[in-house]
Amino acid sequence: MKILVAGGTGYIGSHKVVELMQQGYEVVIVDNLCNSYAGVVDSIAQITGKRPDFLELDLADADATECFFNHYTGINAAIHFAAHKAVGESVAKPLMYYRNNLYSLINLIKNMEKQGAGNLVFSSSCTVYGQPDELPVSEQSLIKPAWSPYGNTKQVSEEIIHDVCIATKLKAIALRYFNPIGAHASALIGEYPIGVPNNLMPFITQTAIGKREVLSVFGDDYPTPDGTAIRDYIHVVDLAKAHVVAVKRMLSNQCKSNFEVFNLGTGSGYSVLEVLRSFEKVSGIKINFKIVARRAGDIEQVWADTSFANRELGWKAALGLDEMTHSAWEWEKALRNIELKTQ
Ligand code: NAD
Ligand code: UFG
Repeated sequence: MKILVAGGTGYIGSHKVVELMQQGYEVVIVDNLCNSYAGVVDSIAQITGKRPDFLELDLADADATECFFNHYTGINAAIHFAAHKAVGESVAKPLMYYRNNLYSLINLIKNMEKQGAGNLVFSSSCTVYGQPDELPVSEQSLIKPAWSPYGNTKQVSEEIIHDVCIATKLKAIALRYFNPIGAHASALIGEYPIGVPNNLMPFITQTAIGKREVLSVFGDDYPTPDGTAIRDYIHVVDLAKAHVVAVKRMLSNQCKSNFEVFNLGTGSGYSVLEVLRSFEKVSGIKINFKIVARRAGDIEQVWADTSFANRELGWKAALGLDEMTHSAWEWEKALRNIELKTQ
């Protein structure tokens, strides 16, 4: 089975590629490298003992995407990770987000449909729930107005996919990730954002290693026990394993409808300070941090009701917060050695 992984050199995509290849799938990665490095393909080859095909491609470019599909046939399913993903940045640059995230999806499904490669797994997000009225959020919870342009791109993307699934033979699964953190146990792949990280975990590890001076904690006046915002952090390897289950479900025709949606989280929420304390415990390093104002577009708290995914997919997140922060730290240290060697 040949699987197209769009955005496969990125953080979550690279972990997914490893899991797929270890299960015997043939993988072709496309990525425009706007937030990742081609060297990730070498690391994937080192972990799996096999090199996935890789092509540099901007999926938001309609002609280039069509050209790719004209030359690359026989794809059984596509997993679509390729998007911009920073909530705060999307508030500052909405058009960049709408253009990239929506054009890339439309170009991908248009060409898949033409090829008859009608299976899509889409990277959605718990951001589609906005700030929910009740916690935990289940797949049945109300989709409220998005709090950021990024969140809106995920809501609109799901609507586009839903409509195309009705109109054509496309089958799709949207996986609503909560907050993936951590890295592969080999410490050969992990989160490696270009420039200053937007996400919490890489900012913590980069502060610990000395790349950043101080971590800003965005707000301590939320209505939470310690005043900082709460998220459902999930180990990226657990997340990658759930994708393999989703792909198998589609390819073996076990989906119960043409468009299915699942929450991927652990079911537990942790505050920013709890993540910080877990990191300090596993690394033995004290993090220099300061409390600053809330970040635009941030919601106060969210965590998942995972019972539907657990039951239907037969999947459950296995790794806890300390394992997440520990693996993120091992990755950051490994990265320092790689960077020192290449200087
Ligand atoms: P990432 O930035 O590490 O990976 C995305 C990859 O897509 C990058 O390699 C980037 O270069 C590529 N890309 C972006 N636009 C592209 C385009 N037009 N054409 C080709 N390649 C393009 O991000 P990630 O954390 O791995 O996230 C993957 C997906 O999961 C995204 O869709 C994101 O919105 C979604 N998601 C992420 C999180 C999270 O916290 N990381 C949470 C929920 C959902
Ligand atoms: N935070 C800080 N300081 C930082 C970075 C983050 O205090 O330097 C806080 C944020 O305010 C938030 C929490 O840490 O309360 C998590 O922030 P992230 O930026 O790591 O994650 P978000 O919840 O904002 O968003 C992430 C992804 C989105 C995805 C969403 C799903 O970036 O793509 O998780 O919950 F949609």
